[in-house]
Amino acid sequence: MTHLVLVGMMGVGKSTVGRLVAAELDRPLFDSDEMIEQRTGRTVREIWSTDGEETFRMLETDTLLEALAEPEASVIAAAGGVVLSDRNREALSSADAHVVWLLADVDVLLERVRHGMHRPLLDDDPEGTLRRMYVERAPLYQEVADAVVSVDHRSPGDVAKAVLRCCA
Ligand code: S3P
Repeated sequence: MTHLVLVGMMGVGKSTVGRLVAAELDRPLFDSDEMIEQRTGRTVREIWSTDGEETFRMLETDTLLEALAEPEASVIAAAGGVVLSDRNREALSSADAHVVWLLADVDVLLERVRHGMHRPLLDDDPEGTLRRMYVERAPLYQEVADAVVSVDHRSPGDVAKAVLRCCA
């Protein structure tokens, strides 16, 4: 019973690749942003603007811990910010889980995040924010990762294959 957890920056493709990997392994997929939206009946953006980031981060922790506690081996697409909390990083490191860091060049991320509506942190100066975030978070993703898979110049299907090769 080993979960497969995808971590990485916003826009790297955790949800898309997570869906493909979960289908291939015939496992349930837990996508933390989706779980939060289903549970609260509100969008990430609504929670963020009404209750603030702190409340959102608490919900993020709840969903991560819940997914990791599932008895059935699953695929978990963890939201980009999960590594910010010590508690989440400890949970990722101590869980029975393979953690894969999906890594992309910031220019690639910038192109991809144009389409998402659930990323209020990128409303102003997405490029500067993503670059600062990358510097802040790269060591945190590194800390929890058992493997690193580059997504640059790869289709989601190829990324999924690479994830399966290293972890399934
Ligand atoms: C965030 C990432 C987003 C979403 C929220 C905050 C972050 O999820 O949870 O906008 O701090 O990196 P994705 O990583 O799925 O884009």
